[in-house]
Amino acid sequence: MERIEQIKKVLAERFATLELKSDILKAKELRELYGEIPKLPVEERGAFGQAVNVLRIELETMVRDAEASAESASLSSVDVTAPFDINATQPKLLPTSQGTTHPLMQEIERIVDIFGRMGFVSEESREIDDQYHMFETLNFPKGHPARDEWDTFMTVQTDKDGDPLIAPAHTSTMQNRILHKYSANLEKGEPIAAIVPDRTFRNEDLDARHEHTFYQVEGIYVSKNVNAGMLVATLKKFLEEYYGKALEVRVNPFYFPFTEPSFEFALSCPFCEKKGCGICSQSGWIELLGCGMIHPNVLKAADIDPNVYTGFAFGCGVDRLVMMKNDIEDIRHFQSAKLDFLRQF
Ligand code: DAH
Repeated sequence: MERIEQIKKVLAERFATLELKSDILKAKELRELYGEIPKLPVEERGAFGQAVNVLRIELETMVRDAEASAESASLSSVDVTAPFDINATQPKLLPTSQGTTHPLMQEIERIVDIFGRMGFVSEESREIDDQYHMFETLNFPKGHPARDEWDTFMTVQTDKDGDPLIAPAHTSTMQNRILHKYSANLEKGEPIAAIVPDRTFRNEDLDARHEHTFYQVEGIYVSKNVNAGMLVATLKKFLEEYYGKALEVRVNPFYFPFTEPSFEFALSCPFCEKKGCGICSQSGWIELLGCGMIHPNVLKAADIDPNVYTGFAFGCGVDRLVMMKNDIEDIRHFQSAKLDFLRQF
């Protein structure tokens, strides 16, 4: 028994020096004490065994206490550390190299830059709007059948007419505000020239080419004597700069309530030089955007006299441009937050 007392002392001293306190439970002295039990005469075994067990339990308690106090020392509780603890744990920062700009944002910066060099200012859209801006000012009166083409998400809140507020389904929702904001340009003899690259929403069945949330870039240009040739030239210049090569463009008649005439604008496939490839579905052409001459009613809704001023407008899906440029096969990657996708850009 005395030997157990001695060993206890030795172990207590060693315990103080141990970095990993639980190592004390693996001490060879303890193991040897247990080994001795079966060798003892039967009548001594009980008491000896009990004393060894008591020693082990004491050691276990010491380990537990030491671990608990180490844990509380690393906590930066205000009660413990007030007024402040110079040993408080420091927050860990991930290296900055782990963040990258989203591919859509990188391309929007390029789009803004190209149009900026053509004299267009850039404006933001909004993520909730009223039906007055989304439809009425764009020559879709209440009950107009074309409203169904821009099916989006509605909120339970309503605007002053009692109509639900909506998530805008196109960046055209900003046209009226932009025309108002820059109408003083016209009086000074300067054009209104603005783009709106921003987020839009649609109630879509999702697949590789359809997302509920995507980006468009809207363009508006108003001045005296604006004609459709200027519209085509502006878009052609933009697309040639964006894809870095000469392109052919094709303009077909189309219908939008807010332009007259309206066009569907296609460009010769920048990837196969019109020979036909997977990106243009073997047709050599890519239907890219809608555009047209701004309808007189849209100008009137912004108090601009359509007998004096004319203009053009266009709306182009940004995701589509970026998918084609980078050979991205599924539009849903953009909103997926998948790092293995994002880190490629
Ligand atoms: N807002 C249209 C859409 O989302 C695109 C568009 C077409 C915009 C013609 C325009 C335009 O400004 O003139 O499908």
